[in-house]
Amino acid sequence: MPPKICLYGTGVVSVLLLIVSIALVLFHVFPNFLHSTMKKEIVLKNGTDVFEAWVNPSPPVYMQFYFFNVSNPSEVLKGENPSVTEVGPYTYREIRPMEQVTFLDNGNEISAVNPKTYIFEPNMSRGLEDDLIRTVNIPAVTVMEKFKDHSTISKLISAYMTSKNEGLFVTRKVGDLLWGYTDDVLNFLHTFSPEVDPNFGLFYKMNGTDDGEYIFFTGKQNYTDFTRVAKWRNESNLEWWSTDQCNMINGTNAASFHPIISKDEMLYMFSSDLCRSIYALFEKELYVMDIPAYRFTIPREVFANITENPANAGFCVPAGNCLGSGLLNVSVCKQGAPIIMSSPHFYQADKKYVDDIFGMNPVKEDHETVIDVNPLTGFLLRAAKRIQVNVFVRKYSAFSQTGNVNDLVFPVMYLNESIIIDEGSARTVREVVTKGAIVINIPFFIMGLAILIGVIFIILVCKQRGPESTPAEQEPLLKS
Ligand SMILES: *[C@@H]1O[C@H](CO)[C@@H](O)[C@H](O)[C@H]1NC(C)=O
Ligand SMILES: *[C@@H]1O[C@H](CO)[C@@H](O)[C@H](O)[C@H]1NC(C)=O
Ligand SMILES: *[C@@H]1O[C@H](CO)[C@@H](O)[C@H](O)[C@H]1NC(C)=O
Ligand SMILES: *[C@@H]1O[C@H](CO)[C@@H](O)[C@H](O)[C@H]1NC(C)=O
Ligand SMILES: *[C@@H]1O[C@H](CO)[C@@H](O)[C@H](O)[C@H]1NC(C)=O
Ligand SMILES: *[C@@H]1O[C@H](CO)[C@@H](O)[C@H](O)[C@H]1NC(C)=O
Ligand SMILES: *[C@@H]1O[C@H](CO)[C@@H](O)[C@H](O)[C@H]1NC(C)=O
Repeated sequence: MPPKICLYGTGVVSVLLLIVSIALVLFHVFPNFLHSTMKKEIVLKNGTDVFEAWVNPSPPVYMQFYFFNVSNPSEVLKGENPSVTEVGPYTYREIRPMEQVTFLDNGNEISAVNPKTYIFEPNMSRGLEDDLIRTVNIPAVTVMEKFKDHSTISKLISAYMTSKNEGLFVTRKVGDLLWGYTDDVLNFLHTFSPEVDPNFGLFYKMNGTDDGEYIFFTGKQNYTDFTRVAKWRNESNLEWWSTDQCNMINGTNAASFHPIISKDEMLYMFSSDLCRSIYALFEKELYVMDIPAYRFTIPREVFANITENPANAGFCVPAGNCLGSGLLNVSVCKQGAPIIMSSPHFYQADKKYVDDIFGMNPVKEDHETVIDVNPLTGFLLRAAKRIQVNVFVRKYSAFSQTGNVNDLVFPVMYLNESIIIDEGSARTVREVVTKGAIVINIPFFIMGLAILIGVIFIILVCKQRGPESTPAEQEPLLKS
């Protein structure tokens, strides 16, 4: 009786497939399988692709500098507001390999240093390192701030500055301002106290040097800790979220089909420029190179004034001396130089700082710090860290060089350190995301198949029970 066997066979297969598919869904078989395979791969282990990609990252990191060229220095000395023109970008490619790599604690941790080398990229720059920039004379302001209350020393320094034609403003090459030059005033002090470095530069001695030893988790114990910083310069309790996490994208390796980044999650960035860690919050969903991403940005309250966010009272240095929203006094981190950090163009800062400088034009899209992460894999797809360096300028009666200048938070330059996943890695992530979606949906395909077979079964049963059909008519059909 082959027709009958076929008929009921179809029914049984349909029911079995349905049961199997429901069981697969209920017991999360495929997600768990994926999860455990991926877990094995998200770990830093000698000899693996993931490890190689972490040691020598391929996606390029660019550091772009924009300077504010002062156009009315003599008016500023008379008490007028400064007028500045933004110039740049001066773009450098950052090469940042892991060095002195050592496995610790049975492979659970790894120690390394991460020196950054900066290579000028003329094709991605508007201008050259030889361009002249007129800006605030940071070494001079630092020295004036330091000796403002020592009448004899300040007289001596002021006379020396006059003889060397040094004033509140200085015109220097971009390359000098960034990578260092010998400053007359610092050199003068150096002859009296040799511990004073006669050189100054915003990134002086930063090329090719590392910022201390890091200890990372390898992810062996817990894959969600993969490449997280356990200690920096021997200090633990750092929350860390770095641009380096993107480095292991290459290969089908480091992915988990687990939503490891949720919208509620805060991303922490530890920034040695700011001497503290700051956090970013979910803002919106978007696509980066056709990959779905969550965008995290730094909320205004992180740098709001104490009326808006009393928790920020700790930023008031010395205690009780609070600056307006959007500013951070980092003087203590910069050997007493009166440096104040903000977002570029005083984005999210108190409006008075924007109004004080002609040429400021804060724009959210251009001047915010952003981090775009693929939620499914946790991969960093794009990031841009944007910070402005300002100098607190004021009149020092002991220094005629400061004329009648107003109290100003004077912008010098801002930087945009950015990374975007390269096309090769993007392709890999897209594959991983698609494969993940397909594999996770396998039980539903089986379920669909079961339903389809079930429908065929019902049609066949109805046909058999339907209007008289002779065996003679069915016979050829089944044979063919
Ligand atoms: C990785 O293995 C190679 C070859 O066995 C060895 O030379 C190298 O030192 C190891 N690297 C680390 C960081 O342990
Ligand atoms: C940084 O150092 C590298 C190698 O030592 C050199 O090629 C590069 O030009 C330097 N960059 C700057 C900005 O001096
Ligand atoms: C900055 O301003 C100075 C003085 O006006 C000028 O000589 C210089 O060319 C300007 N720099 C740039 C890069 O435009
Ligand atoms: C903080 O900022 C708000 C809004 O910009 C302002 O109204 C308030 O006066 C500021 N508080 C202080 C202490 O500056
Ligand atoms: C910044 O902090 C230093 C001490 O850390 C302090 O001397 C200085 O006055 C502060 N600057 C401003 C503008 O408040
Ligand atoms: C960096 O930010 C600036 C504006 O702040 C923007 O003009 C530039 O295109 C950005 N660079 C990259 C590589 O995204
Ligand atoms: C990925 O790694 C392979 C070698 O393992 C290399 O040839 C390729 O260029 C890398 N791709 C990217 C986008 O880094």
